[in-house]
Amino acid sequence: MEYVAIVPAAGSGRRMGASKNKLLLSIFGKPLFIYSLQVFEEDPLCKGIVLVVNEKDRREMEEALRLYRIKKVQALVRGGKERQHSVYEGLKAVKEASAVVIHDGARPFVERKQIEDLLSAVEKHEAAVLAVPVKDTVKRAEGGFILETLERSSLWMIQTPQAFTYPLILEAHRKAERDGFLGTDDASLVERMGKKVALVPGNYDNIKITTAEDLYFSEAIVKKRKLERID
Ligand code: CTP
Ligand code: MG
Repeated sequence: MEYVAIVPAAGSGRRMGASKNKLLLSIFGKPLFIYSLQVFEEDPLCKGIVLVVNEKDRREMEEALRLYRIKKVQALVRGGKERQHSVYEGLKAVKEASAVVIHDGARPFVERKQIEDLLSAVEKHEAAVLAVPVKDTVKRAEGGFILETLERSSLWMIQTPQAFTYPLILEAHRKAERDGFLGTDDASLVERMGKKVALVPGNYDNIKITTAEDLYFSEAIVKKRKLERID
């Protein structure tokens, strides 16, 4: 199934504490956001990329796109206040697509196989997200005391990419805006329409770069991949 990729990259990376958007930080010399764009660039099913950016990062990002020869970016769209607003701006800029794959610029280690698995699920169910089982015990708490222990076997950590048929996700974002609903991922906007979202097992390497220690985890993942390629 062919698709358009929407990549929100318009955050500020507050929790990283760097002097610029964390997506412009480099891992082994290459800007973080370029890693995942290369996966889309090389995937023949990806017909175009909509990159959602901050005005202050636009020039530096455009330069990196040229340097790494990323040619599929159809539009660099200005982001909004929250991630959800940025994704919505990206969706509105899509000219034509049967499916869209929404993927955070902050997850550099997505793999082609995972995108393929997601798209197969979208063909059947219209909406699908990558997820991995929760490893730790998760409890709900308030005021420093535990309220309850959640049943771990039913808990999943949800990642991006998340993929949808284009009309469905556009409608979900429209409705969320109308209702003043703000979710932390795109699937939640589809869930609240009463629509089922399929879970597609992903892998633990697909981390989101959020705080400074994630940068050294990233280096370890890049090194591991280089070794795997040599073998
Ligand atoms: N994002 C965006 N527009 C926003 C906020 C976030 O496009 N208004 C993007 C980020 O650039 C990132 C993804 O959404 O690729 C996930 O967000 P997150 O990891 O929270 O990044 P930041 O919001 O930049 O980081 P922080 O929350 O620490 O400030
Ligand atoms: Mg954020």
